[in-house]
Amino acid sequence: MADPDAQQRNEQLVSQLESSGCLRDPAVASAFRAVLRHHFLPGRPLDEIYEDSAIMTKMGDKGVPVSSSSQPAIMGIMLQQLQLKAGHRVLEIGAGTGFNAALIAHLVGRDGHVVTIDIDADLCEQARANLAAAGIEGVEVVRADGAHGWPPAAPYDRMILTVSTSDLSPEWLGQLVEDGVLVVPLALAGPIQQSVAFVRRGPALFSTEVTTCGFMPLRGEMAPPPPAPDGGLEPWLQGPAHASGYVLPAPDLRAGFEAWLALTQNAYFRPRLRAEDAPVFGLRETAGAALVVPQDDGYPVLVFGDGDGAAAALAAAHRAWAQTRPQVDQLHIEAHRMGGEAVAYGTDRTVRRPHFTFMITTPS
Ligand SMILES: C[S@@+](CC[C@H](N)C(=O)[O-])C[C@H]1O[C@@H](n2cnc3c(N)ncnc32)[C@H](O)[C@@H]1O
Repeated sequence: MADPDAQQRNEQLVSQLESSGCLRDPAVASAFRAVLRHHFLPGRPLDEIYEDSAIMTKMGDKGVPVSSSSQPAIMGIMLQQLQLKAGHRVLEIGAGTGFNAALIAHLVGRDGHVVTIDIDADLCEQARANLAAAGIEGVEVVRADGAHGWPPAAPYDRMILTVSTSDLSPEWLGQLVEDGVLVVPLALAGPIQQSVAFVRRGPALFSTEVTTCGFMPLRGEMAPPPPAPDGGLEPWLQGPAHASGYVLPAPDLRAGFEAWLALTQNAYFRPRLRAEDAPVFGLRETAGAALVVPQDDGYPVLVFGDGDGAAAALAAAHRAWAQTRPQVDQLHIEAHRMGGEAVAYGTDRTVRRPHFTFMITTPS
């Protein structure tokens, strides 16, 4: 039964997402109008449900959230990246509450087909119950580790992960049709994530859109390795540091300088100076590094070990960035199978992972 209060709150939320520019595609906006989020969050107050916020739904053993209903704004952005059409066959990895799968099912219509996978049986059961309560048909909920995708009867036209990963699975590529779209929250530099829309061309994937996002990491076989000791064991990191004389303005950190540096410089480095402290960032070289270490009065670049060259490179990178303040959504990312024929033309940064090599280029 339609709940007029929920309908009204949902209308306010969708209008807000339209006016803020998150929802631009009328088809995606009408999916958000037709599929009500409260069916997927039973027992929660409507006030909470119709806010533009992520809602945690399951905590893991270590008190870390392992499932949530994602923030509606990023869901809308990613569904737009996915460019869904009626009749598409779609795989989602990260079923969670089933809400995103329901929106996808609405967008692909009766001729389409949606498979959504979650690694936890209880979440799959709840997602099935939520989809039934919302009256959504055409969604198959499967309990599996999304690391292997899910074998399709015919290749998927679209694939989306609503959980982050630091690599791609060869099976995702293999299960996607030529020219098909994969939308994936990709962590290529520490915790910094981008939702990348890739198009498959033969054995490689080419980005068409990149936008900042924040998702919980995949569990299971493709779970990211535990953070390395960050090279923090190097003796020169424990030794004395001296000021380079270069100080970063605090607003530049908020404006995305670190994300830009991380995705454009192979020497990007994010160690912890002490186990109990938050990580710092900067550039490294063979026996030293230049790191932006927050102090009470700002963000000076400190030189560790033989890091004067890194300090000069960091200052130069910052000056260049400050001229036009480019954002990571201007980057182009290619993903090639390890050992595949990667043409690394004008590549600024290469990130090698066990299955894929990512080549990141800046706009010329
Ligand atoms: C942010 S939630 C997804 C939100 C969901 N799409 C929705 O609309 O509610 C991420 C989900 O990914 C699932 N997940 C984590 N690792 C997974 C894996 N290896 N395979 C499949 N699902 C996984 C989690 O259990 C969690 O439910």
